[in-house]
Amino acid sequence: MHADDVVDCHVLVIGSGGAGVRAAIEAAGHGDTVLVTKTIAGKGGCTTMAEGGYNAVLKKEDSCEIHYEDTLKGGAFLNDPELVKILVRESPLRMEDLIRWGAVFDFTKENEIAQRPFGGQRFPRTCYAGDRTGHEMMMTLVEQLDAADVTKLQEVTVIDLLKDGDRVSGAIALDENGSIVVLKADSTVLATGGGSRVYDVSTNSSSGTGDGFAMGYRAGAELIDMEMVQFHPTGAVYPYDARGRLITEAVRGEGGLLKNRLGERFMKKYDPGRMELSTRDVVSRAIATEIAAGRGTPRGGVYLDVTHLPKEQIETRLPVMLEQFLKYGVDIRTEPMEVAPTAHHIMGGLKITPECKTTLPGLFACGESAGGVQGANRLGGNALADTQVFGKRAGEFAARAEKRVKKINPAQIAKQEERLDRFLAGTENPAVVRTELQQAMWRGAGIFRDEAGLKNALAVASRLMQAPLKAVSTKNLADCCIVENMCLTASLICRSALIRPESRGAHMRVDIPQDYDAAHSPYGHTYISRNRIGIVKHGAVA
Ligand code: FUM
Repeated sequence: MHADDVVDCHVLVIGSGGAGVRAAIEAAGHGDTVLVTKTIAGKGGCTTMAEGGYNAVLKKEDSCEIHYEDTLKGGAFLNDPELVKILVRESPLRMEDLIRWGAVFDFTKENEIAQRPFGGQRFPRTCYAGDRTGHEMMMTLVEQLDAADVTKLQEVTVIDLLKDGDRVSGAIALDENGSIVVLKADSTVLATGGGSRVYDVSTNSSSGTGDGFAMGYRAGAELIDMEMVQFHPTGAVYPYDARGRLITEAVRGEGGLLKNRLGERFMKKYDPGRMELSTRDVVSRAIATEIAAGRGTPRGGVYLDVTHLPKEQIETRLPVMLEQFLKYGVDIRTEPMEVAPTAHHIMGGLKITPECKTTLPGLFACGESAGGVQGANRLGGNALADTQVFGKRAGEFAARAEKRVKKINPAQIAKQEERLDRFLAGTENPAVVRTELQQAMWRGAGIFRDEAGLKNALAVASRLMQAPLKAVSTKNLADCCIVENMCLTASLICRSALIRPESRGAHMRVDIPQDYDAAHSPYGHTYISRNRIGIVKHGAVA
């Protein structure tokens, strides 16, 4: 094989979800900007699948201070406070951009942007477009992208970052036929989203495979808090093919009730103050506990009930839920849904500064690829805001880089060629490897964790990382690279989980007794890179 095509640009954005597209829009006009995506802009990624909403402080009764405090408390105080300040301050501004560009959010009769309550928030600050908020945002963003001076390379899969000395100088990719494309850039933005597809049950689109985490790690970047995986409390339980699909938190925001098989509103045992609108870590554990105790539904979930709500409210505020469940043979206006937790969001990721710079010169990260904003547990509605706030910042600061002559070290290309040749000569079906990994992660690195389970999951991920994956043709080479990324991402999650000796937010270690709460934790971020792994320790337990 050989490099068939070389593209030289100023800013290279990898990923076409909300953060990537926002970054590319911002960078456009400041030098050649290229957006490369393994899917089609606006069609892949998780933003377009995000249903519930976008958090922004818009009313005088609300404030950035309250949003900041809610986000830190919800994040079990592991968030980077500086990044949270930026999130809450800039999310209303990015919302204004979206509205100016034509996004149709729901409005009240008083002609104000409508907002609804989401978990862990003291003010109803989640703006929405029915229950297809992310889709509305993506359609708007893609229109802006199309109008901007951005070259789109679609169905082109980046397989690794390229470096010139210590500096990231672009990436190497495969086009849809498996031919190599070299992308040279002054700045490279990783906006590849999360990696919750490493779990058997997940809300993520098939593209949530942790590519940015894996590529960043291989290039030498530092990642933080990779153990922090959010399990969304409410995923579909059936039919089998729809397992894990998102049942939006907006259902509970609109007044939906969680009940066990006995008809009990069990949240009163777990968080009597906030009930169904507790934070996701708490609600997921509550549901998992009810199911494990035999109080789940026959299909292995719990009930989510909106039958007491006015039909018109369901039809207008939850139209996607209504339609989706009608397809499953359930009319949610008259029958409860069945739901169970599902892997949803990786709170950890590449360590970034407020300018979205990673620990590697020339490399930026934003959205779910980056860590630090969401702490140990993300509030619903903060992810869409994160994509816009940090997507814009990544594009802006990446575009400020000096233009330079980029040298490509032929050894890096040769190494990738050898990797690809190995796949063509391999023996293991990547789909089979992926399934084994997903099942091991669900068993060993799920909602409730202990050392033995995590070590088992890590052993499986490490073994599978060495599997001789087989590409049946050059068109399947990208799949092999992606499965390798999944194995590496899974191992980063397990290794980080094993070094956090406490329960915090979404990370619940059932084998470690604990006598302090998150606010008094002596630990900070976990960090992991090719050179070091550890956990920050600060202060004494109060
Ligand atoms: O439940 C939801 O609609 C998901 C929203 C989010 O993850 O922010």
